Amino acid sequence: MEFVRSIWENDKDYMALVEDLLEDENLLKLDDIVHHHYTTRLIHSIYVSYVSYRIAKRFNLNERAVARAGILHDFFHEGREEIAALKQGSHNFVHPKIAIKNAETLTELSELEKDIILKHMFLTTVGVGVPKYKESMIVTCVDKYCAISEVSTPLRMRVKGKVSEWGMKLRVVHA
Ligand SMILES: [Fe+2]
Ligand SMILES: [Fe+2]
Repeated sequence: MEFVRSIWENDKDYMALVEDLLEDENLLKLDDIVHHHYTTRLIHSIYVSYVSYRIAKRFNLNERAVARAGILHDFFHEGREEIAALKQGSHNFVHPKIAIKNAETLTELSELEKDIILKHMFLTTVGVGVPKYKESMIVTCVDKYCAISEVSTPLRMRVKGKVSEWGMKLRVVHA
């Protein structure tokens, strides 16, 4: 969500928690992958991380774990076909496991952070397990909220464009 990029970039407390992650070239490659039709996988991950961080902070939960695991929750470069070819299960079941493996190459993960990443597809696939922590529950809910918001953005923009087009035509007719 490019329009909120300045919000998280200007939040020094948040950036201090995640800036080491955002220096990793492999993670930054997620910015080349289109995600939810409208955004990139990296921007989606930061969006989920930042919204989850603000909620965790508000409720005095582990905001560091939420911010970091939020950024890492979709840390995979494979497309749907490549994941299907692995024959290890559905896309929603497999990609959190790949994300954990990739995340462990750049930082040490706590049990809480692992749970956040592993369970973020809760309710969308079988066998993923119930989130153990409030922080995991926040990230899985925010992930769904962000996904819906991202998927519906092009449609909302189209509708907005049509409405203003009709508005212009009406103004001309009444002039
Ligand atoms: Fe995901
Ligand atoms: Fe996600």
